[in-house]
Amino acid sequence: MAEAAPTLVVRGGSVVEGGTSTRADVVIEDGVVVAVGEGLDVPAGATVLDAGGCLVSSGLVDLHTHLRQPGHEEAETIESGTRAAALGGFSAVMAMPNTDPPIDSAAVAEEVLALGRGCPCEVLVAGAITLGRRGEELAPLRELAALGVRLFTDDGSGVQNGALLRRALEYARGLGVTLAEHCEDAELAAGGAMHDGEWSSRLGLPGIPAAAEEAMLARDLALVRQTGSPMHFLHVSTRGSVALLKAARAEGLPVTAEVTPHHLALTHAAVCGYDPAFKVNPPLRTMEDTEALARALADGTIDAIATDHAPHPPEAKDLPFDEAPPGMLGLETALSVSVQALRGVLGAEEVITRLTTAPAAIARVSIAERPAATAQGGPLVVGAAGHLCVFDPEAAWTVDSIAQASRSRNTPFAGTTLQGRVRHTVHAGIPVVLDAVAQR
Ligand code: DOR
Repeated sequence: MAEAAPTLVVRGGSVVEGGTSTRADVVIEDGVVVAVGEGLDVPAGATVLDAGGCLVSSGLVDLHTHLRQPGHEEAETIESGTRAAALGGFSAVMAMPNTDPPIDSAAVAEEVLALGRGCPCEVLVAGAITLGRRGEELAPLRELAALGVRLFTDDGSGVQNGALLRRALEYARGLGVTLAEHCEDAELAAGGAMHDGEWSSRLGLPGIPAAAEEAMLARDLALVRQTGSPMHFLHVSTRGSVALLKAARAEGLPVTAEVTPHHLALTHAAVCGYDPAFKVNPPLRTMEDTEALARALADGTIDAIATDHAPHPPEAKDLPFDEAPPGMLGLETALSVSVQALRGVLGAEEVITRLTTAPAAIARVSIAERPAATAQGGPLVVGAAGHLCVFDPEAAWTVDSIAQASRSRNTPFAGTTLQGRVRHTVHAGIPVVLDAVAQR
């Protein structure tokens, strides 16, 4: 029989709930929260984690993680990716299906779920909408849904064929699952390497216009209106998309959306040195876009922050800018970068709700869908799962791409000093990160 883990007391922090925080200790036994309150007694033999000056929340939930396994283990594995996630304070990540082979069958979904067991954070699986992500025929959504898959996406590309997407929406509605769209009109984006604007002209790089995202998003909203089926919008990046989403929400359409930390923190000007670390899809946009995204996150037009953690090994990424693949690491820096980028718009506690409650609801792993003891995203109350993120808003640290847990190095924040760091992460009552060091 497995030995019971000692009781864990997280002491001296402030527990985050509903966008504010209150001084409280948290006690976890057998993987479940058994007490939350100020100045609790420490049971004999308990392990004590110091959380002085820290914000203590439920573990973070990432809606958008490329774990690369199966098929691209040189970039990331489920083991290295979940270790990176734990270092970033995450207790659940949604594995994207653009693996090789893609997650378009029960066999591959089962393989990913099996590899995720025993990792330092829970691995959820998103299935492909179409077979091979080719956009030609539907993947076996029912078979995948039977395994617990609740989100389907062809991420990496959008579903170009509107008639096929309409069919997928109708089918998804019957199954009670959500389609998540990477909005990008392939013809409008063809050949582009960065945002089409002032900087692409200056640098002589081919551009991807904002319209490539907005045209597909507008089409998809029309299909949501027609079918009544919910849709989640991945990595929204333009102010035009924000305006479309705002109108859709006012109309009552069943839509949700996410924004990445890098689209909040960086603009297309970052491409000025042709460093492929700043190449990502959708591309980094203008300051006006960045500001509109932050406001949309604050007013609820955009629900959640999601990393789009996209590892690429140096041999693939270190190419001339227009030849390098798009993608950035995100898990280990997400909370720090988001808190910093949103300063003056959203407080750290509000940022944390966009990385816990909101994504857990979209991923369908919240308390509304699961028993409290296995639910993700909080609330951090007695009976909840013992998943914690302990964030020190005062800690400054410099991102070292070599020291990261990810197998890849492609962070755009290498050498940047960030304010605020995940200090401890607890998963199912086990400390998996202590003082910013992974425990396995
Ligand atoms: O930059 C990106 N990289 N955007 C995507 O949508 C896919 C991702 C990847 O898989 O590398």
